[in-house]
Amino acid sequence: MEYFEIVGGKRLSGEVYINGAKNAAVAMLPAALAGNDVCVLENLPNIEDVHSLVDALRKIGAKCEFRDQHTLVIDSRDVTDHNAHYESVKKTRASYYLVGVLLGRFGKATVALPGGCNFGTRPIDQHIKGFEALGAEVKIEHGMIIAQAERLVGTNIYLDLVSVGATINIMLAAIYAEGTTIIENAAKEPHVVDTANFLNAMGAKIKGAGTDVMRIVGVKEMHGAEYMIIPDQIEAGTYLIAGAITGGEVTVRNIIPKHMDSISAKLQEMNCQIEVGDDFVTLNVPGKLTSANIKTMTYPGFPTDLQPQMTALLCVAEGTGIITETIWENRFQYISELKRMGCLITVEGRMAVVEGGTQLTGAEALATDLRAGAALVVAGLAAKGRTLVGNVRYIDRGYEDLVQKLTNLGAEIRRVEIEE
Ligand code: EPZ
Repeated sequence: MEYFEIVGGKRLSGEVYINGAKNAAVAMLPAALAGNDVCVLENLPNIEDVHSLVDALRKIGAKCEFRDQHTLVIDSRDVTDHNAHYESVKKTRASYYLVGVLLGRFGKATVALPGGCNFGTRPIDQHIKGFEALGAEVKIEHGMIIAQAERLVGTNIYLDLVSVGATINIMLAAIYAEGTTIIENAAKEPHVVDTANFLNAMGAKIKGAGTDVMRIVGVKEMHGAEYMIIPDQIEAGTYLIAGAITGGEVTVRNIIPKHMDSISAKLQEMNCQIEVGDDFVTLNVPGKLTSANIKTMTYPGFPTDLQPQMTALLCVAEGTGIITETIWENRFQYISELKRMGCLITVEGRMAVVEGGTQLTGAEALATDLRAGAALVVAGLAAKGRTLVGNVRYIDRGYEDLVQKLTNLGAEIRRVEIEE
């Protein structure tokens, strides 16, 4: 099995280049099928989730050619098959965006239901609510989502809760719907806005992305577009936290600082010094890290995808910190792995109380999902001795070149193969 082997205690310093946003990329790859033309997506991150989705697009007839590691040409003119089979979609949950785009373009979609995740069930009831409101008949049979509609007619859809996936999926299904579709209680994440901007570049008529209310006026046809994906604020936040936990000085480059506001503010609250430039943020830790309370919220609140990494940071900061996870029902499973490194954490439902000021010690630990894996790596950077993080395939799903980037910052980390 592959592990990341980390020898902790090295102070990180230097600059790291941030890649395109995973959660934008996995929405925009399916969105490219809407145009019945040729699209070029630039600044794609070179990660497993992107490659899994490109395989799925190819299996349904899209021609996908990489111009380079981060630029993909997608020709969707030969896509006629609306069946995305389990084999091609099982690796990434975001394949469910194929339902919205195929239903929107062809009036029919048959896509394997995505698997669960390690932090609770991942329902799609709000996605289905939106499709049905537009006039589609949706059923789940033999592990497949089957959606079809004679015609899709715009309507008013009020989401019961803020959902990134449902907002994007309903937007994809509504772009060709007759009339106007209103999505109320829409998600406002940067990747929702980026996907809407990409669809508008292809000829869609979407307004209000980034606000609670999105308005989509149905169009008759769309065309291709060349589009550069936004940088990944979660990747950037992960490296800032890695800098903070080692008392280092780290600059994350090629970012949109605005997307990092909640993360930068929380790190400043913990006594980090933050300098914000046009396309970078620099962190350093002049004194002692002090604890803080963190509550995950939908954007622009503190992102749930940095919750595990922040918990690791709280373990070494002076004082007691409380993390409240409001987005996911059970996103603390990684804490049992962190405890193997000496973290003092008590979990009560959606709250975790962290006794800080701990000197972590290296241990063997298993990533239970992508961001949990990132948290274990971050903790290993500060731990005394050697840490082995297993299930690195989870981390490879969302972090390009993590070992090289951390090595360039001065960490002692390598990918090792260990026979079971
Ligand atoms: C996206 O997941 C991200 N994934 C997640 O990032 C992120 O944690 C999440 O948004 C919240 O920001 C991608 O974009 C590929 P949601 P998504 O629908 O869309 C409930 C990572 O590490 N819900 O906003 O699946 C749901 O159970 C990943 O990059 C319903 O009840 O999240 C959750 O409690 C992990 N019914 C809440 O809403 C639905 O139909 C928010 O989920 C849909 C969601």
